[in-house]
Amino acid sequence: MSVKAKKRKGPTTTKVKEERKVPEVKLIPVYIMGKRYEVPEGLTLMKAMEYAGYRFIRGCGCRGGTCGACGTVYRKPGDYKLQVALACQKTVEPDMYVTQIPFFPANRAQYEFAELTSAPEEVFKLYPELFRCVACNACTKACPQGIQVMDAISALKQGNIAEASRISFECIQCGLCTSRCFGELAQYHMFQLARRIYGARILPRAEHLAEMVKAINEGKYDDILNELKRVKKDELEKLYREREEEPVTAGEDWKPRDTTYL
Ligand code: SF4
Ligand code: SF4
Ligand code: FES
Repeated sequence: MSVKAKKRKGPTTTKVKEERKVPEVKLIPVYIMGKRYEVPEGLTLMKAMEYAGYRFIRGCGCRGGTCGACGTVYRKPGDYKLQVALACQKTVEPDMYVTQIPFFPANRAQYEFAELTSAPEEVFKLYPELFRCVACNACTKACPQGIQVMDAISALKQGNIAEASRISFECIQCGLCTSRCFGELAQYHMFQLARRIYGARILPRAEHLAEMVKAINEGKYDDILNELKRVKKDELEKLYREREEEPVTAGEDWKPRDTTYL
């Protein structure tokens, strides 16, 4: 039996091509490590480098501005100023000269953290070069996170670990400050030490957390946890969906209806 193939009605090839018109991309010139490339406008420096043929094995991590792996320096035409950026965040500008500094050698002190106290001298002993700081502020200008790096270093010199920790809280360890430092300090390693000491030795303990850990260790939640482990997946999902949630606008004194496990 012969079956006549029914001619499919649909858009012609030309029509499809017209519908799928790719938007025009403007190419702009950039210099990556001194070599000229033309890359699409709007790309990040990292994507522009990839577009130009570079492949990242180091110097690229989160692509979201948080890991600090992609520290970059660049200069724009006619501008004396050397600028800094994270390659995954900064977008290309015409004629910029770019190079990435994914790693900058920096002194990192060795220590047994359990043996450290909260005394400022701990930082002085591990990083005596702290006092080589000449207060030039180049580090602050180099920080892509907008951290007042020199102020944090000054706080450390004054023995104020808590303040150094607070100022440097958003440091992503990119090393750009270190690359510009006259005193040859590794600011970000010092800040990490400060934050560790602050978190472990200075910040007051959360009493409610200690109480909860004690209750868990004493078995207060064993029965309910074992019961949940026995429940089938569907039932568990239902319980989860129907659980009582704390309202977004709840005040400090909010409590669930069932207070058995508080
Ligand atoms: S303080 Fe230094 S290492 Fe930290 S984010 Fe700023 S430039 Fe990078
Ligand atoms: S760049 Fe170095 S010397 Fe200059 S203020 Fe910062 S830490 Fe001090
Ligand atoms: S890749 Fe992580 S900050 Fe850029």
